[in-house]
Amino acid sequence: MGKCGLPIIDWWGGFRYLRNKKVLRIRPFSLPDLDSILQIESQSFPKSPYHWTTFLNLHTLYPETFLVYVNPSTPQPEDQGLPSTRDFGELSRAAQAEGLRVDPERRSSTSFSKAGFGAAEWVNTNRGQKEEEIGGYIIFTQDGHIISIAIHPHHRRKGIGTQLLQRVMKTPHLKKVWAEVRRSNEGAQAFYSKMGFQITGWVPNYYGNEDALVIQWSPATIKQQD
Ligand SMILES: CC(C)(COP(=O)(O)OP(=O)(O)OC[C@H]1O[C@@H](n2cnc3c(N)ncnc32)[C@H](O)[C@@H]1OP(=O)(O)O)[C@@H](O)C(=O)NCCC(=O)NCCS
Repeated sequence: MGKCGLPIIDWWGGFRYLRNKKVLRIRPFSLPDLDSILQIESQSFPKSPYHWTTFLNLHTLYPETFLVYVNPSTPQPEDQGLPSTRDFGELSRAAQAEGLRVDPERRSSTSFSKAGFGAAEWVNTNRGQKEEEIGGYIIFTQDGHIISIAIHPHHRRKGIGTQLLQRVMKTPHLKKVWAEVRRSNEGAQAFYSKMGFQITGWVPNYYGNEDALVIQWSPATIKQQD
């Protein structure tokens, strides 16, 4: 027990818990993400990238189903330092929201160290989280039509596309999930096929001078396989 009869806080455990709780890898798009999205877009669809106004319109139409994937933070060694007052204030608010007791006198680096918590690590991990790097995005309609999905070329084949697509596939009450894919886009076709999608049709000249394959997945397929 602490001197006031309160349980002694496991600071390191508490920080780790809060930090993990704060990391939301997939979240709705917000305006500061636009630059990153445009970069991913131009590198992923050089033939027909969406204009920035298209993304804003899509954000207005689908505020809850225009999602971005935030890459995990990478701590920078040169960022090492002690927690600032602002860092501590942020932590205190987060801790209090979680029902943890916070002692303001423990702000100094000594008390952090005594508590077994690496002050530099706190600053690093949180600084990393503030500078969010967008790894990819997905936009879909409430009834399961995938309007667009793209992952930054540097972050492909790491399972990000899978995580974003699973968000759609796990949406309750969807009867099917479907998308159009260029006939020449063999990478995307392999990706969807791995996720259990099947080709159900095609649309001639959907992309002007190229056909689209219509690919589809339905939760019923899983039940039938079970
Ligand atoms: C298609 C795309 C979204 C896949 O995203 P991703 O994050 O790389 O996919 P994942 O890492 O989750 O891949 C899961 C599996 O799909 C398959 N797959 C994904 N990309 C593939 C490719 N280019 N070639 C062959 N198989 C592929 C693999 O089986 C992969 O598993 P593995 O890496 O263990 O072999 C991504 O390549 C992309 O953004 N492409 C450009 C934009 C695009 O074509 N969008 C689709 C338009 S409809």
